[in-house]
Amino acid sequence: MMRKLKPKPVLGVDVSTSSVKVLELVKTSTSYRARCYGVEPVPANAIAGKLVSDIEAVGQAVRTAYKRSGSRLKDVAVALGGPTVVTKAIRIPAGLNQREQEEQVEVIVGREIPYPLDEVAWDFDCLGPVEDQPNSIEVLIVATRRENVENFQAVLEYAGLKGYIVDTEAMALEGAYDLLRDQLIDKGRNRTIMLVDFGSSTTTFSVFHDNHIVYTREQSFGGRQLTDEIMHRYGLSYEDAGRAKRRGGLPEDYEETLLGPFTKDMAQQVNRALQYYYASTTEHATVDQIVICGGCAAIPGAVEVIAEAVSMPALVANPFTRISLSGKAQAQGIEQDAPSLMIATGLALRSFG
Ligand SMILES: Nc1ncnc2c1ncn2[C@@H]1O[C@H](COP(=O)(O)OP(=O)(O)OP(=O)(O)O)[C@@H](O)[C@H]1O
Ligand SMILES: [Mg+2]
Repeated sequence: MMRKLKPKPVLGVDVSTSSVKVLELVKTSTSYRARCYGVEPVPANAIAGKLVSDIEAVGQAVRTAYKRSGSRLKDVAVALGGPTVVTKAIRIPAGLNQREQEEQVEVIVGREIPYPLDEVAWDFDCLGPVEDQPNSIEVLIVATRRENVENFQAVLEYAGLKGYIVDTEAMALEGAYDLLRDQLIDKGRNRTIMLVDFGSSTTTFSVFHDNHIVYTREQSFGGRQLTDEIMHRYGLSYEDAGRAKRRGGLPEDYEETLLGPFTKDMAQQVNRALQYYYASTTEHATVDQIVICGGCAAIPGAVEVIAEAVSMPALVANPFTRISLSGKAQAQGIEQDAPSLMIATGLALRSFG
C-alpha cells in the first residue's frame, strides 16, 4: 500500500476532517513550483475520527477540489491518520528475499496489531542495516484496518482518480518539514523542534531532532471545538460558522468570549505536550522552538500567546518559503491556506521520490 511505486507525478490529496486539499507540485531548476491548488470543505461528520464515514459526501468534496485545482493528474497520494494506523520499526534477519521478508513481517503484524489479520492492510519499507547487529535489517511496518484503505479507494474512485500511494500523515508531515528549514533556528541542525499541527478534530505534536522525527503524539483537540461553540452561541450552521471563523463578521463579543479562551487552550495543549514529551525521553530533552501549522495556526495572535505561555520562540509554518507559486494557485488562495497545507505538500512531494 505504500512506497512501492516508482516516483511519478502525483497529486497530493489531503482528505481531512474539515476540508479536502489538493496540490500539484512540479520541479524547477532550483526547487519546486505549486502549479495547481484546490480546496473544498467536507460536510460535518462525513469524516469522524479520521475515518471516512460518508463515502459519497467525501468523494464529492474531492471531486470539487480536484476540478477547481485544474490539475490533469489522475494519480494521487493520500495519507492515513488517526488511531487505527500503526507504524512500528522492527528488526528482521538480513539476506531474506522479498517473499521471505513478507512472511516475517506478516507474523509480526499478526502479533502486534490489535485486529484480526484478515481485516488488516499492511506494508513495510526497508530502513537499512542495524549498526550493532550485522545479521539484521530494520524495517518500518505500517498497518491499518483494511476498511480504512477500502473507503479511501472508494472515495477516490468516486472522484474519478486512481493509481494511488498511501502514506501516513506523520510521514507526509516529515516530508514537508524539510521545506521549513529556512524558518528554523540553525536550520534545525542539532536542534530539537516541536511541530504542532492544529487541525479540526485532531492536534498532532511531532518532535524533530536534527531534522529527523523522533516523537509523535495525537490529541483530540482542534478547531471543531471552536466551530461548535460559535454554532451554539450565535445559532449558526456548521458551514456558516466555519466561514465566519475565516472571514470574520461575528458579533463583537466573539474575540473575548470564544476566540481568546480557545487560543489559551491551544497554548495549554502545547504546554502539556511538552511535559509529556519531556517525561517520555532523556535524549534531546530540551525543545528549542515551537512551529505551529494546521488551520488554527492562522488564528491571529495565537502564535504569540503560545510563545509566551511556553517561554520559547514560536512561529507559524510556511511550507512555501522554498516553493514558488503559479498565478493560478495564488488565485485559489494558496498563500492564506499555507499553514494548513503541510500534509498536502508532503504528499505532493511524493512525485519526486
Ligand atoms: N483563519 C482562520 N481562523 C480561525 N480558524 C481557522 C482559520 N482557518 C482555518 N481555521 C480552522 O482550522 C480548522 C481546519 O484546519 P485544518 O485544515 O488543518 O484541519 P483538518 O486537517 O481538516 O483536520 P484534521 O487534521 O483534524 O483532520 C477548522 O476548524 C477551521 O475552522
Ligand atoms: Mg489535518
